[in-house]
Amino acid sequence: MDDIAELKTRILGAVGAAGDEAALEDLRVASIGKKGEISLKMRELGKMTPEQRQAVGPLLNALKDEVNAAISAKRAALGDAALNARLQAEWLDISAPARPAAQGSIHPVSQVTEEVIAIFADLGFSVAEGPQIETDFYNFDALNIAPEHPARQEHDTFYMHREAGDNRPPHVLRTHTSPVQIRHLEAHGTPCRVIAPGRVYRSDYDITHTPMFHQVEGLAIDKSISMANLKWVLEQFFSAYFGTSVKTRFRASHFPFTEPSAEVDIQCSWVDGQLKVGEGDGWLEVLGSGMVHPKVLQSAGVDPSQWQGFAFGMGIDRIAMLKYGIPDLRAFFDADLRWLRHYGFGALDVPTLHGGV
Ligand code: DAH
Repeated sequence: MDDIAELKTRILGAVGAAGDEAALEDLRVASIGKKGEISLKMRELGKMTPEQRQAVGPLLNALKDEVNAAISAKRAALGDAALNARLQAEWLDISAPARPAAQGSIHPVSQVTEEVIAIFADLGFSVAEGPQIETDFYNFDALNIAPEHPARQEHDTFYMHREAGDNRPPHVLRTHTSPVQIRHLEAHGTPCRVIAPGRVYRSDYDITHTPMFHQVEGLAIDKSISMANLKWVLEQFFSAYFGTSVKTRFRASHFPFTEPSAEVDIQCSWVDGQLKVGEGDGWLEVLGSGMVHPKVLQSAGVDPSQWQGFAFGMGIDRIAMLKYGIPDLRAFFDADLRWLRHYGFGALDVPTLHGGV
């Protein structure tokens, strides 16, 4: 009897002290497993007298139950402790403020380009593209700008470097988007209605000029397109773009690639140094345009006795400055974060006609 009491104290003590699941399992095998201490003692019952058996049997059974229960309880306690340790270790402060996410903005040039595309798309124009590194043929010759023509100098052209002995025709950084007229007509023929927005380059730098800037070219060729169509399209465009009815004024001008040619002004007023488009009796020059010169059509493989149409070229940066009140063109390309945050647009601010561009 005493040894049963001793056994109980020892085993329960060991269960209480077990540090982990494996130690607990060892204890179970050593006490109530097949060859465990308590099991071996139970086997000895057979050799006892009935009286002894009656006294010892229930004690051993009770001890076995008690050890079993103690092991289960200890196992649960170890599980709880492990869970608590994990909860402590993996604790997450959901009230902590989020880390600041880097947030960019849409550059006004990108935004205005999208606005221009949306408005002209509604007028039936699709978007054409051409390379920024152009041959002097597409940039000048095909547009009726002869080698000795002063426009070649006026454009402050960047010429690409040539190794000595390289006799390929000279390449330039395109000085305007007009070469896309030729490339588009060559590739797709007539009739056509396209705009070509993109980067252009001239060696020039002051408050209204940067060596890289943006233009959008327009080209509409069909059987009976006239200057009247040009005026209507431009007035539709400016009215949609500025969100108010805008009149245009055509002034006779000269471009080698159009005949007749016109510079186009939009109606505006200056009140207290503030520019307002679409009202008053002031005029602001915004683009060059005209009827495409027969020689230009010919260079592009189009028969000028069958086809005619208008073209125009407009500064995207310039109309962005006018609409959004941005005073200095150079700041567009300084990559100053304060400027970009101030004049930039949100990613979800997508220009659409129904959204009022
Ligand atoms: N290419 C001219 C420039 O960069 C702008 C221009 C004028 C384009 C008249 C045209 C046009 O298509 O018809 O200054």
